Amino acid sequence: MFPPIQDPEIWHRGDEQLIGIAAYAKAQMTDKRWRHTQGVVVAAHVLAHRHGADVRKATIAAYVHDVAKCWSLEQMRARIAAHDAHDPILDAPPSLWHAHAGALAVHCDVPSVDEDIVNAVKYHTSGRVGMGLLEKVVCVADYIEPGRHFEGVDQIRSEALHSLDRALLLGLSHTIRSLLAEHKHIYEQTVRSRNDMLRIVYPG
Ligand SMILES: [Fe+2]
Ligand SMILES: [Fe+2]
Repeated sequence: MFPPIQDPEIWHRGDEQLIGIAAYAKAQMTDKRWRHTQGVVVAAHVLAHRHGADVRKATIAAYVHDVAKCWSLEQMRARIAAHDAHDPILDAPPSLWHAHAGALAVHCDVPSVDEDIVNAVKYHTSGRVGMGLLEKVVCVADYIEPGRHFEGVDQIRSEALHSLDRALLLGLSHTIRSLLAEHKHIYEQTVRSRNDMLRIVYPG
């Protein structure tokens, strides 16, 4: 399903913008997170082609989606609070902070990004009601990248080739089931996103 993963300098040869954005993300990550990121880039590339999304924007969003994942929680909190000290995400589980902190960082640090890319970063973990095409591509790519091996991932991979909505419904349902099984807090927006997909996939 996925083409082989290649280093950005080879894959994007001569494209200084993409190579620069990849280097910006890589510099803030562990090797393990970078391998995951490269997997998400490949998956987002395939899904964007398949579903008519902007392939370049999907590639950029995938490179930067976890840019803040390896920051300390204090660094994430400070970044979010500097923008809005009362941002409700700070009351949500810290595992969700990296998406919002990363979106703020990308908005400031990467001049070429637009609102679609920033939102794809911001909502890649929880989703949201009314997700746009690029947001769905990145969120699903994050679930199905070749390095993911959880139970049910192959079903999400095959659905993703036909329907991003069905793949997202499966992915978000998987997340909620896992959180329940681990007795962890479930962010309300994740539930709302899943119900929104349910409404789209099974209207009426
Ligand atoms: Fe993430
Ligand atoms: Fe990720």
